[in-house]
Amino acid sequence: MSLPPQFLDEIRARVPLSRVIGRKVVWDLRRSNQAKGDWWCPCPFHGEKTASFHVDDQKGFYYCFGCHAKGDALTFLREAEGLGFIEAVELLASEAGLPMPERDPRQVQRADRRTELVEVMEQAVRWFRMQLGTGLAEQARAYLGRRGLDGAACEQFGIGYAPDQRQGLFNALRSKGISDALIIEAGLCAKPDDGGAPFDRFRGRIMFPIRDGRGRCIAFGGRSLDPNARAKYLNSPETALFDKGRNLYNVGPARAAVAKGKPLIVAEGYMDVIALVRAGFEGAVAPLGTAITEDQLRLMWRISPEPVIALDGDTAGVRAAVRLIDLALPMTAPGQALRFAFLPTGQDPDDLIRQKGAAAMTGVLDEARPLVDLLWRRETDGRVFDSPERKAALDKALGDAIAKIPDKDTRDHYFAALKQMKWELFNPRRQPQQDRAPRPAWQPKGMRGPIVPVAPVASTRASSLSSPDADGRTAEQMIEAMILAICATHPALIAPVETRLERLEPEDGERAALIHDLLAGSQSQAGQRALESIMAEPHVRTAPAILRPSDDDSAAGILANALDRIEARRAVREEIARAETEIEGLADEGLTWRVAQSARARQQADHPSLADLSDLGEDRAALSAGLKAALENEIWRKPRK
Ligand code: UTP
Ligand code: MN
Repeated sequence: MSLPPQFLDEIRARVPLSRVIGRKVVWDLRRSNQAKGDWWCPCPFHGEKTASFHVDDQKGFYYCFGCHAKGDALTFLREAEGLGFIEAVELLASEAGLPMPERDPRQVQRADRRTELVEVMEQAVRWFRMQLGTGLAEQARAYLGRRGLDGAACEQFGIGYAPDQRQGLFNALRSKGISDALIIEAGLCAKPDDGGAPFDRFRGRIMFPIRDGRGRCIAFGGRSLDPNARAKYLNSPETALFDKGRNLYNVGPARAAVAKGKPLIVAEGYMDVIALVRAGFEGAVAPLGTAITEDQLRLMWRISPEPVIALDGDTAGVRAAVRLIDLALPMTAPGQALRFAFLPTGQDPDDLIRQKGAAAMTGVLDEARPLVDLLWRRETDGRVFDSPERKAALDKALGDAIAKIPDKDTRDHYFAALKQMKWELFNPRRQPQQDRAPRPAWQPKGMRGPIVPVAPVASTRASSLSSPDADGRTAEQMIEAMILAICATHPALIAPVETRLERLEPEDGERAALIHDLLAGSQSQAGQRALESIMAEPHVRTAPAILRPSDDDSAAGILANALDRIEARRAVREEIARAETEIEGLADEGLTWRVAQSARARQQADHPSLADLSDLGEDRAALSAGLKAALENEIWRKPRK
């Protein structure tokens, strides 16, 4: 039922918001200014002792500075009291002393039709339940027994049975004086194309009534007793009552349970919901035979700020979760989060509870991970990030994903969390405790984030592309020095290149400390030492970007260019190292191609003006002569193992 907006404004204006909220909270009277309708209290949506929840009677809005919960009187009644929209309006209207508005006649007619349909559905519920007690249902009762559903469970969920008859339900409803049209409109019977008599849609199935938030039966799910049936579950078609993407199985009882403090758990199937509820997880719901939709997410978030998605421990379950990430990210916000709980492989909540009991399910729920973890797993599982390109591809994938989050605060926190995960992935702590080297002198005690000098691995071994110059510095170290010097003298340029700085991973421990200082805004002795020696290097000391610390723009260009160059050099180096290990006597086409590609990347970075020469392609002959010679030396001069 849609209500005129003026009416909603009127009831909101008549009832002070503080009166609605005051029933649920204890005001901080020292902080509040009652005369001005300005109220403060500890937030009822998240546990806290300080009063960061603000209620403004003038504006009719509340806002929590802690968890960012916000809204008006109707929002509050729905979210804090668990009321439906109409219920909230009715309550507020009665408090405002206003009658609910007259409804427009077309709406009244549609509503009346729906009332009729609901009545037909309820007749069907009664008939299916009655059938479960008859001789026709022996097999069905045995099946339910095997699945651990006793009389009380059937009672609670209104479970019934549709016997394998062509017109059992049809005749029963007709005998109550219900018209064919209504029976068909309710989706209970179907009319054959040849114009014959309508027949029962559900035959030989256990029947689960699907109820809306107000407890009205709007559809059925029917489970076949025959393990070979074409459709294990058959659901009602979409009708005037049933929009499968906008409802959830067990939503009404779950909402009441969540209002009493139970978690909202989203399972995949009806049987799972029933098993969960019977095991004490009363806040369980399930979608209705389709993947979770946006509307269903919204519905869940109206019930709980952080539903737990309990996924079957199979590939389909994981795939469902992965799809859900893309659906949920554009909708996440403060108070609209998700957690994911993973069932053991091959089990759903129903299996787990039956085999291991409710405690095992609690264990699974306790292990639930936030959405950001799942996003991380999706982008990193089974992959190796051993090159700047691969790391950059990861950055891009993660960046694209979090760009979908509309709320800036939430987006920032995702960014920070993912940054931390990257840090841990790319800078693994030395694992076994006893093997850990003593803390290097340059690393201050208690410094956050592991700064372990990167041990030179095969891929970072010295080569002619990184061989020392006359002063013992490699080209890479010189570029590195320039990068660090620019960052130290132009701190404003650090933020946009944070991840690239992290990835520099210099071999020199003091430089690593300097990077940490630059990123954390701290000052360590080791970092200072590195900075002093860098600033003393001739190519740094005399660089225009260092001499003119106020010119951020041109420094930014030089910084970006230097980062490109060092990353490309490393790519070549790693590619060559890999090639070395792969070469056994003969070079193959793919290998030379790969090395040429890397060389090309380096060349482009070293000579940006060449970047557009697309005809460089795979053609090694097109590589500049010097570079080609260098590469060939690089590969072929090495003694073969
Ligand atoms: P599952 O195949 O996981 O079934 O489908 P389940 O819930 O574990 O059922 P049992 O334990 O074998 O009885 C999960 C949900 O997907 C929908 C139903 O809503 C089901 O509850 N589904 C499944 C269908 O709509 N049709 C099907 O043929 C199968
Ligand atoms: Mn199951």
